[in-house]
Amino acid sequence: MAAAEAQRVFVYGGKGALGSKCVDYFKSKGWWVACVDIVSNENADANVLVQLSESFTDQAEQVTADVSRLLGDTKVDAILCVAGGWAGGSAGDKALYKSTDLMWKQSVWTSVISAHLATKYLKGGGLLTLPGAKASLTATPGMVGYGMAKAAVHQLCQSLAGDDSGMPPGTAAIAILPVTLDTPMNRKWMPDADFGSWTPLDYVAETFYNWATGVGRPASGSLMQLVTTGGKTVATPAFQ
Ligand SMILES: NC(=O)c1ccc[n+]([C@@H]2O[C@H](COP(=O)([O-])OP(=O)(O)OC[C@H]3O[C@@H](n4cnc5c(N)ncnc54)[C@H](O)[C@@H]3O)[C@@H](O)[C@H]2O)c1
Repeated sequence: MAAAEAQRVFVYGGKGALGSKCVDYFKSKGWWVACVDIVSNENADANVLVQLSESFTDQAEQVTADVSRLLGDTKVDAILCVAGGWAGGSAGDKALYKSTDLMWKQSVWTSVISAHLATKYLKGGGLLTLPGAKASLTATPGMVGYGMAKAAVHQLCQSLAGDDSGMPPGTAAIAILPVTLDTPMNRKWMPDADFGSWTPLDYVAETFYNWATGVGRPASGSLMQLVTTGGKTVATPAFQ
């Protein structure tokens, strides 16, 4: 009998705080893990390096071609897009154009590329996750670039659940909508915050693993709010 083939996952943004946690978590479960980021993650089995560009089409084609070279005809069980970033600023902010441009590149470009990779390389029944934000369910006047980019990610997630979306049969696209993640950077910049209201990275990695293995997986198109209170996290869909 042939040995069972390892399950495979791509972590887009796999060198970030949540991304690194996901790489390590899926590795610990015996999965083959590839990281897509602008710098490599030495814990991953393979790395696809994204070349920064002012052109979306150039970057998208470069990543798609490199993933295609890496995978050939092989399909993957999950694509976790956790790339992103944060910038504040109202429409009157002097850095508005720059921050909006960056937010779009970090959250929307990466999500669109991940979605297209899912249509090409996700196995039937596989999982795509996208990086939303709970704040973007309503107006974000003090962080318009961020708010718009995450709202676009939510819209993409909902569209991928629709008929003829291009997603393979039985797959699910699910967005996570964190409030605040318990990352080293957040601890550095907000040392006096209530850490009990921040969502642990382990919780998110484990939740992705459960969804990827069919445990408690929400319906495709779900926007899953991650709300942590007193150290306990609950994931609930924004729209029932
Ligand atoms: N940290 C929080 O409190 C918080 C709150 C709400 C939402 N989120 C979202 O959750 C996700 C994970 O957060 P995090 O704190 O781990 O972020 P992070 O900043 O630690 O990591 C993001 C990663 O994305 C990568 N990245 C950015 N642009 C890229 C591109 N064009 N191509 C490939 N990789 C790119 C970065 O290099 C980095 O490794 C992000 O989408 C973030 O916006 C985070």
